[in-house]
Amino acid sequence: MTETPYTFDLNDPDCIPSRYDNHIRRTLTSMRGQYQDTAAYDAMLAKEDTLLYEVYELQRPHVAGEVLHGISIVHPGKVGDEYFMTKGHFHTVLETAEVYHCLKGEGCMVMETPEGEWAVAELRPGVVLYVLPRWAHRSVNTGAGDLVTLFAYPGHAGHDYGTIEQKGFRKLVVERGGGAVVVDNPRWSGGQ
Ligand SMILES: [Fe+2]
Repeated sequence: MTETPYTFDLNDPDCIPSRYDNHIRRTLTSMRGQYQDTAAYDAMLAKEDTLLYEVYELQRPHVAGEVLHGISIVHPGKVGDEYFMTKGHFHTVLETAEVYHCLKGEGCMVMETPEGEWAVAELRPGVVLYVLPRWAHRSVNTGAGDLVTLFAYPGHAGHDYGTIEQKGFRKLVVERGGGAVVVDNPRWSGGQ
């Protein structure tokens, strides 16, 4: 870990940062139970453990004064009619926010609070999204190419994936008639 200020470049065409410390790859197996169409999920997994998204992280201490940052790349595709997406999470320290800057692609951020409020923000190149404290967030790629975002959040935020793994998000983003639509998640259990 460097102790002097640094820069990095986001090279065309893939936006893979010119420096990073961790490269996380999430495949179908890490999303078990997250997609609505379990038959489509099983059929897809039987063929290949498809790579869904990747995260390039710059390593910094997980303390309040730091800003953790990196690049998220969600690949295009669907499981059934549901678009490829990230696991989604609350921050362990709920009262911490996050900034996203969309660099490439097309998609959205699905968000919700523990009380069941929800929001969906469109992501396209140039869009900056501020995810308020308390809002869980999941990137969804609704386009034909990679969805690439730069993210930054407080060093002490932490990740709570378990709540979303158990409850799901209140809203799903699926393809209907060739376009992306937001629908209720029939299995959402946040209100129970
Ligand atoms: Fe986050």
